[in-house]
Amino acid sequence: MQGGRLLTVFLLLVVLMGISFYHIQHNSPMEINTDAVRPRPEQHDGFKDLQSQTSVLSNAETVAFRNKTQGDVTVHSDTEDMTNGTCRPHLNVAFMKVHKCGSSLIFHMLLRFGYEHDLIVALPRQKKREIIGGFGTIKDDDFLAPPGGKRWNIFGHHAFYNRTQFPQLMAPNTRYVAILREPLRRLKSAFQYFHLGKGFPGLEKQTPKGIAPVTTYLAKPMYWDPLFKFKPFLSAKKRTSEFLVKAKEHFCFRNCMSRDLGFAEKDCDNNTAVEEFVRGIENDFTMVLIIEYLPASLILLKRRMCWTFYDILYGHHPRRQRYKLKTPITDDMKSTFYQRNYADLMLYTRFNESFHRQISQEGADFQDEVSHFMRINKDVGSYCRSKTRQRKGNMIVKKSKWNDAFSVGKSLCSRYVRNRQYWDTQLRSRYQHTQNKELENENSVVQITKSRPRKPPKRPSRKPRKHPPRKPRKRPPRKPRKRPPRKPRKRPQKSRKRKH
Ligand SMILES: *[C@@H]1O[C@H](CO)[C@@H](O)[C@H](O)[C@H]1NC(C)=O
Ligand SMILES: *[C@@H]1O[C@H](CO)[C@@H](O)[C@H](O)[C@H]1NC(C)=O
Ligand SMILES: *[C@@H]1O[C@H](CO)[C@@H](O)[C@H](O)[C@H]1NC(C)=O
Ligand SMILES: *[C@@H]1O[C@H](CO)[C@@H](O)[C@H](O)[C@H]1NC(C)=O
Ligand SMILES: *[C@@H]1O[C@H](CO)[C@@H](O)[C@H](O)[C@H]1NC(C)=O
Repeated sequence: MQGGRLLTVFLLLVVLMGISFYHIQHNSPMEINTDAVRPRPEQHDGFKDLQSQTSVLSNAETVAFRNKTQGDVTVHSDTEDMTNGTCRPHLNVAFMKVHKCGSSLIFHMLLRFGYEHDLIVALPRQKKREIIGGFGTIKDDDFLAPPGGKRWNIFGHHAFYNRTQFPQLMAPNTRYVAILREPLRRLKSAFQYFHLGKGFPGLEKQTPKGIAPVTTYLAKPMYWDPLFKFKPFLSAKKRTSEFLVKAKEHFCFRNCMSRDLGFAEKDCDNNTAVEEFVRGIENDFTMVLIIEYLPASLILLKRRMCWTFYDILYGHHPRRQRYKLKTPITDDMKSTFYQRNYADLMLYTRFNESFHRQISQEGADFQDEVSHFMRINKDVGSYCRSKTRQRKGNMIVKKSKWNDAFSVGKSLCSRYVRNRQYWDTQLRSRYQHTQNKELENENSVVQITKSRPRKPPKRPSRKPRKHPPRKPRKRPPRKPRKRPPRKPRKRPQKSRKRKH
């Protein structure tokens, strides 16, 4: 009972701190909407064609089938929602994967986005590796050198966020995105997924039948943490020291979300450091998705990035863990857990709150857009799984207040359920293709030379992280861009047609 009261007081404190420190992080001073290095992909003429089609309504009334076999037609609009005429899609995105927060879904979405928009996606040098770099530092030989010395447009692999290094590797005006999950739920998920219980000698033996090992862990985390061993997780073949080092990045018990976002473990008990860390993330990140509110998170992402429904369609679903085992977690266990994971609790509480606040300011039609998108995503899913898809022809998603019409066919259906291994190969082969192209068009990109030390980022970093005083909440209207529209690339049209 004591623990329960303690927790209540603690949570109240956290919420109060959250309120007082909350500031809009969406349009921080250094995030002026000057856009990406690269032009948008070509506009397809398919749009007019689509509008004149007489369409057969599907059950959801939002889609129709096109009786014509044809590749996907993606219609992008530059004047979608937000301020009139100034909203252009953001193509430079660094997504920080956070373990066991449903981040693979967003990762796969971004890999497809990078592919379809012809962007430079960060890839590990060694094929099909999950992680780029290690423990917060990315070295030159950790990644495949981008063609023509360019910087990455898209980052989505596992890596600890390093706020001094990422700006050096990413294209200018990159927007940072992360994802979070309620910390205790995240730990349960990690325990189940990685079978973490096996790493603590004796833990499983002490766990009664029918009870999840995480319960035993949560009763005495201070006792268990130092006992953890990697050995049970490594097959003899993989037990090389390098593999071990890499594997360690996946294992974590304390403030794991914060760790993935660059928080140093030594600062776990230093509330000043926690506060500085959270403010740093608020400052650097345009958007932090909350997996418990995935559909709304996606729509907010779409609006912030000026993307389309097509861009955020997803065929993967976050893995739902079924807990066959009971997890009788007491208030005392919770209270201990939240105290030990203060950084994660702080991070989650602040961003969950900021997320809800942003949504409440998005206008009355936000929830309608969420429902509309989810209907479309479901219909696209049914269409893509349908055995009679070939006969039906392409599916047409009709124009609505929130999207232009677009068509879905074979290529999207095969792409949007693909995983990292598939994309690694696809995107890798594009590096060569892009390289040739870039040689003709050098001045459109920021050049860096790998052997030379990269320019330090403009933003102040290093020790006393001073954040500029927060701006008041009101966002100034975005200025229309002064830059003249870029010329479309000379690249021949046919290079966009790809085989699958
Ligand atoms: C906004 O869009 C409307 C209709 O498309 C147009 O009439 C109006 O001039 C635009 N306003 C600005 C500021 O561009
Ligand atoms: C972040 O990257 C820089 C190199 O740009 C490196 O010196 C530093 O050690 C890294 N920080 C961490 C925590 O690894
Ligand atoms: C706690 O963190 C702050 C900010 O990083 C630092 O100045 C201070 O020395 C740290 N305190 C301890 C005891 O490590
Ligand atoms: C997130 O914030 C909302 C709104 O403040 C709240 O209702 C909800 O309980 C929070 N979610 C979690 C998992 O704490
Ligand atoms: C297209 O529609 C016509 C008649 O509506 C039908 O005869 C034909 O088989 C359809 N073609 C395809 C590819 O579905």
